[in-house]
Amino acid sequence: MGTSVNILLQKALEVRSKAYAPYSSYSVGCALLDDQDGVHVACNVENAAFPLGSCAEANAVGAMVASGATRICTLVIVGGFSSLEHCQPCGGCRQRIQEFADADTRVLLLNDSGELDAYSMEELLPNSFSLDPPTSG
Ligand code: THU
Repeated sequence: MGTSVNILLQKALEVRSKAYAPYSSYSVGCALLDDQDGVHVACNVENAAFPLGSCAEANAVGAMVASGATRICTLVIVGGFSSLEHCQPCGGCRQRIQEFADADTRVLLLNDSGELDAYSMEELLPNSFSLDPPTSG
């Protein structure tokens, strides 16, 4: 127990260096902590057939599910072309993260200046799609 945010930041930076992004040159790293204290990391993986490329977040969520965990406590994304840019998760990845998030889940964006922005899922994806019936009241 007790995986710190600093460890997640370090792991996201490490895995970003493994990104396969020869077409965009935009490297992204993602590290997430699940509710069993498991840490899962992934980078983006592009493909010559462009639509087949996959985002770092999608790959990290897939690794978490493959390990048997289904709740995200904290998810770190590191990327960006300039040192001041925070890589915002794309729309599809917001929905992918939302699937395994709750009100306490925090998404942290790290830029190359070491600045951290923190978001809840309600901030990243308000009024999100769900198959759950609406609650009354
Ligand atoms: N990318 C991610 O890995 N995550 C995002 O949330 C946004 C975009 C990747 C996909 C592609 O390999 C590159 O960044 C440029 O779009």
